[in-house]
Amino acid sequence: MRLTLRFVIPLLIVIGAIAYAVVPLVDRLTLRWAVRDLDMRASLIAKTIQEPLLEQTEPVTPRKMLGMFKRVSEDERMYALGYCAAPAEKMVSTSLMPEDIRCDTLTPYGLIGGSVLRGKHGSLHVAVRPMDTADNPEGKLVLIHDMSFIERRSEETRDYLFYFFAGLAFVVSLLTVVIAQLSWRGWMQGIRSLMRGEGLLRQPGVSIKVPQKVPELRPIARDLQRLVEDLEAEHRARDESQISWTAESLRTILHGELRGEDVIVVSNREPYIHQHSGDKIEVQRPASGLVTALEPIMRACSGIWIAHGGGTADRDTVDRNDRVAVPPGNPAYQLRRIWLSEEQVNGYYYGFANEGLWPLCHIAHVRPTFRSGDWAHYVAVNQKFADAVVKEAKTKDPIVLVQDYHFALLPRMLREALPDATIITFWHIPWPNPESFAICPWREEIVLGLLGSSIVGFHTQIHCNNFVDTVDRFIEARVDREALGVTLGGKKTLVRRYPISIDWPPEKELLAKPVEQCRAEIRQKNHLPANHAIGIGIDRLDYTKGIIERFRAVERLFELNPEWIGRFTFVQIAAPSRSSIFEYKSHETLVIETAAQINQRFGGRGAPPIILKIEHHEPWQVYEYYRAAELCFVSSLHDGMNLVAKEFIAARDDQRGILVLSQFTGAARELPEALIVNPYDADQCAAALQLALVMPLTEQRDRMRLMRGLVSEFNVYRWAGRMLLDAASMRRRLHLVEKSEPLKTQRERKSQS
Ligand code: G6P
Repeated sequence: MRLTLRFVIPLLIVIGAIAYAVVPLVDRLTLRWAVRDLDMRASLIAKTIQEPLLEQTEPVTPRKMLGMFKRVSEDERMYALGYCAAPAEKMVSTSLMPEDIRCDTLTPYGLIGGSVLRGKHGSLHVAVRPMDTADNPEGKLVLIHDMSFIERRSEETRDYLFYFFAGLAFVVSLLTVVIAQLSWRGWMQGIRSLMRGEGLLRQPGVSIKVPQKVPELRPIARDLQRLVEDLEAEHRARDESQISWTAESLRTILHGELRGEDVIVVSNREPYIHQHSGDKIEVQRPASGLVTALEPIMRACSGIWIAHGGGTADRDTVDRNDRVAVPPGNPAYQLRRIWLSEEQVNGYYYGFANEGLWPLCHIAHVRPTFRSGDWAHYVAVNQKFADAVVKEAKTKDPIVLVQDYHFALLPRMLREALPDATIITFWHIPWPNPESFAICPWREEIVLGLLGSSIVGFHTQIHCNNFVDTVDRFIEARVDREALGVTLGGKKTLVRRYPISIDWPPEKELLAKPVEQCRAEIRQKNHLPANHAIGIGIDRLDYTKGIIERFRAVERLFELNPEWIGRFTFVQIAAPSRSSIFEYKSHETLVIETAAQINQRFGGRGAPPIILKIEHHEPWQVYEYYRAAELCFVSSLHDGMNLVAKEFIAARDDQRGILVLSQFTGAARELPEALIVNPYDADQCAAALQLALVMPLTEQRDRMRLMRGLVSEFNVYRWAGRMLLDAASMRRRLHLVEKSEPLKTQRERKSQS
C-alpha cells in the first residue's frame, strides 16, 4: 500500500501542476481567437454597412446613418456603432457608445486593427474601419462589440478543464494502483524464480503454483544473480571507501547492519592470561598476532570471547560461569574460559594443531606429525568449544567469529546446533596447495568442518585459491571459482580475502614515551653506546619466523661491510612459544647457538653483533624497542600476514626507521615501500640491511609516510568491518531466500536434503 501511494501521490502532483499551467494558457488562446473573430466580424459588418452607403447619390444624413446603425446593433454581440466624418467632428453613434471613444481619440485612426477595452462597461472590442461615402472619403466607422460572451465561454472552458483533469487524475491513479499491485507481485515472483533458475512461464493448462524449471533460463539467472552480487559489492565498496574505519564506525555497522549484540569470538589463545607470581596475580598479554588484532575489535563490539584458560591463576579470577570481564580495570567485554585437561592440551593443541596443522600449512621444512590420538582430542575439544558457544548464544542466530587452525571442525558442529548462526571463520595462517594438504590423513574432515562456515577468510588471494582448489580436489561440492564460493548440501560458504591489520592509531600509552627517550633508554639498558645503530626483531620463538636466516644475514653484513662491526647490533626479542614440542626446543637451541657463534666471530670486546632475549615482553616494552631502532627485520619463511611489520610502522610516528620484510609474508603484498627480501638469500638480506643503515632521512620519511598511510587506512577495524558487512549481506540474502522457500519444487528440496 505504501508502495502504491509512493506512485500515486507524485502522479497527482504532476497532474495538478499540468492543470495549473494549462488553464491560463487556454484562457489566453480563447481570447486571442475571439479577438481575431471579432476583427473579421467588424470588417464584414463595415463592408455590409458601406455597400448601400456607396450607392447613395445624396449625402447620408446622421439620422439616416443612425437608423442603419440601430438595425445592425440589434445583433446581441454588437454593443455600439459610431461614425466619424473627420477627427474634429462629433461622432454619430448609438446610445451605448463609451464616452471616452471620440473622433479625436481615434487620431490618427490608430485602432484600425481592433483592440480590447476594459472599463466600467466590462470588456469591449473596439474596431475602426474606413467608411467612404459619396460626400466623405475619409470617414471612419467605429464598431464596438460586447466581449462578455467570451468571458462566459472562458469560464465554461475552465470548468470543463477542471472536470477533465480531475477525471483524468482519478482514472490514472486507479490504473496505477491496479498495475503497481499486479506487476509488483508478479515481478518479484518472476525475479525470485529467475534467480533460482526457473522460468517465468507456467506450463500451459496446468494450474499449479510452482514455477516450472526452464533450463535455458539458468545462465540468465546466474548472470542476474551475479549482477546483483556485483551491484551489492560495488555499492558496498563505494560505501566502504567513504567509511573512515574506527572503533566507532565498526560499532555502528555492527548495530546498524547486523542489529546484533550477540557477537561471540572463539579462539584457543585468550587475550588476557592471569598468572601467579609469588603471592600476587599478574595479567599477561600473549604474543599472538590473532590476539593483537581481535582485542580492539572486542573492545569496540562488546560480546563474549571464548578461549582456553591456560594461565596459572585463570581459575582464581573467573566468576561461577567461568567468565571474567576484561580488559582488567576497564572492562568492555566478557572472557569465557574453557578448561582443558593436560591430555587434551597435549593432543589437541600441541599435537594436532601445532605438530600437525601448523607445519602442514606453513611448509617451512618441518615435517607435520599426525597421530590418531591427537585427532581424537582435537575432535573432542572442538566439540567442547562448540557446546560452549551454543550455551553462550543469546539468540538462535548469533554472529560467531571462529579463529584459526585450532577449530577447523567447530563451524560444522555449530552449524548443526545453530543452523541460523552466521559463522565467520578466519584462518590466520597460510593455506597450502592441494598436493601439500593431501598428506593430512583427515583432510576431508577438516575441509568439511570449515565448510560449515558462512564465510571462510584468509589474508591473501593465494590462500583463498589454494583452499578452493583443495575443496575441489577432495570434496563433492559445487565450486564457483569466479565468485569464490562453495555450495555443499544447499548451503553456501563464501571464501574471501580479508587482510588482517592492527589497531590504528595505537593505544596512546604505547607512543607516550618520546622516540629520543626510547633510543637513549634502550641503548643504556643493553649497554650500548649512545650513537650505536640498532636493528630489531620481535617474534615468537618459532621456526617459521626465519630467525636463523636473520642472524645469518647479520653475519653476512659484517662480512661484506666490516665497518659495522662494533657499530651495529641486532636485538632479537623471542617470546618463548610451544616449548614442549621437540621441534621448538631444538629450534631454540639452534637459535641460541647461532647467535653465540656470530657474537664470537664478530663480537670481540666491543658491542655484541646480536643480543638475544628469550623472554616475554609486554606490548609497551616492545613498542619502546620499535621506537629505538634504526630498522626492523621480519624474515619469516612463510607467514599469513605478520603484524610485527605493521606494528613497527605504527610505532614510528617520527617517520623514521626502515622495515626489511620477507617476501613470504602476507604483509609484503601490502607494503612495497619496505625493503622486500628473500630470507633464504643471505647476500640479498645483508645488502638490504646495509641499504637501511645508510638510507638518507628524507627517503626513510617518504617510505614510512606511504606505509603509515596504508596501515592507518587498512586497519583492523576495516578487516573486521568488511567481514561483518559481508555477513550482513549474506544474512539479508538468506532471509529473502527463506521467504521464497515455499515456492521451491519438491525435486529441489529432495536434492538438497
Ligand atoms: C599464530 C597463530 C595464532 C596464535 C599465535 C600464538 O599467530 O595464528 O592463532 O595464537 O600464533 O601462538 P600460540 O600457540 O602461543 O597461541
